[in-house]
Amino acid sequence: MKTITIRNVSRDSSILIGEKLANLSGYLPGGKAIIITDDNIEKLYRHEFPDIPVITTGRGEKNKTMDTLTHIFDKLIACEADRSTFIIAIGGGIVCDVAGFAASVYMRGLRYGFVSTTLLSQVDASVGGKNGVNFRGYKNMIGVFNQPEFVIVDPGMLDTLDEQEYCSGFAEIVKAAAIKDDGLFRYLETNSAKALTRDHAILENIIYKAVQIKASVVEQDEKEKGERKKLNFGHTFAHAIEHSTGMLHGEAVSIGMAMAADLSVKLNLLAKNEYDRLIRLLKSLNLPVTCKTDYRELLDAMKKDKKREGDNLHMVFLNSIGDALIRKTSFVELEKMLL
Ligand SMILES: NC(=O)c1ccc[n+]([C@@H]2O[C@H](COP(=O)([O-])OP(=O)(O)OC[C@H]3O[C@@H](n4cnc5c(N)ncnc54)[C@H](O)[C@@H]3O)[C@@H](O)[C@H]2O)c1
Ligand SMILES: [Zn+2]
Repeated sequence: MKTITIRNVSRDSSILIGEKLANLSGYLPGGKAIIITDDNIEKLYRHEFPDIPVITTGRGEKNKTMDTLTHIFDKLIACEADRSTFIIAIGGGIVCDVAGFAASVYMRGLRYGFVSTTLLSQVDASVGGKNGVNFRGYKNMIGVFNQPEFVIVDPGMLDTLDEQEYCSGFAEIVKAAAIKDDGLFRYLETNSAKALTRDHAILENIIYKAVQIKASVVEQDEKEKGERKKLNFGHTFAHAIEHSTGMLHGEAVSIGMAMAADLSVKLNLLAKNEYDRLIRLLKSLNLPVTCKTDYRELLDAMKKDKKREGDNLHMVFLNSIGDALIRKTSFVELEKMLL
């Protein structure tokens, strides 16, 4: 097992890569603890859960809502959860985002940890303390920054993950490499076929490197004032694509990165052969790089981005593989480049 500790203003967070769900009880403090998970994970893994109450939610973005929060709060009250109760979320990005937020605000905040069960959440969603829910079609609109005390990352749990969900997780890994680490990018170029076979040793290595990148960015800029914005590479487009097509987050991020890299070439920032490398790698990981969405519709959806500042967005472009930049870009400029 490898541990990465993220030191933050709010609290330190330990990411335990290679730890097992079966060892979870060893990490729970004494006293009451409650699990929050989704119905799928519960069916697959309940036999490995410690013997403590379980709150179950539905699946998918449609359940990343205030209604699910209400459901969780009702159950917490029914279980007589108090300020000393420890919350443990077991699931992918959706369970971790919702449960992390519920734990952060219930009775002004309970201690909590995660067992992260999708590739996407292991490398991204459960690292960095962002949590929250969607609101009236606006993604991740309501939430807080608050770190879990620990995150168990058990690559063995990925064996039961659906192929499409599994591949979509690689988008965030490619993103981390594309903005910060040409070495990891090259490692992925060499090992993508083995990674697709879910080879645990390769996976542990890749997850460790991706978490290291995210952890170092989050440590520098926990509240996303500057450097952390680079982690949004591909995401301004992705959120709009996700919204209008219902694609998986990682798939939309893959298309969003292809679009942002294409604009980077058009802006004379990125060499065409580096763009080609990105597209080749994404395709080799079975990720989509184009979609049929109408650009005008996409721009309209982008105007709903909560990160917009007036008529501008902070877009992330690439100078080269492993080196990203943030540029304030107006909707008018974007329209000119896209339409
Ligand atoms: N907080 C952050 O910093 C951050 C970063 C990236 C993404 N996110 C959020 O994460 C969400 C997406 O998360 P996700 O991709 O993990 O999806 P998800 O949580 O919806 O999980 C995908 C599906 O896989 C199932 N599943 C999970 N683990 C499994 C396993 N081990 N075996 C079998 N099935 C399993 C789930 O039940 C679900 O049906 C989005 O809402 C996105 O906004 C948050
Ligand atoms: Zn993402």
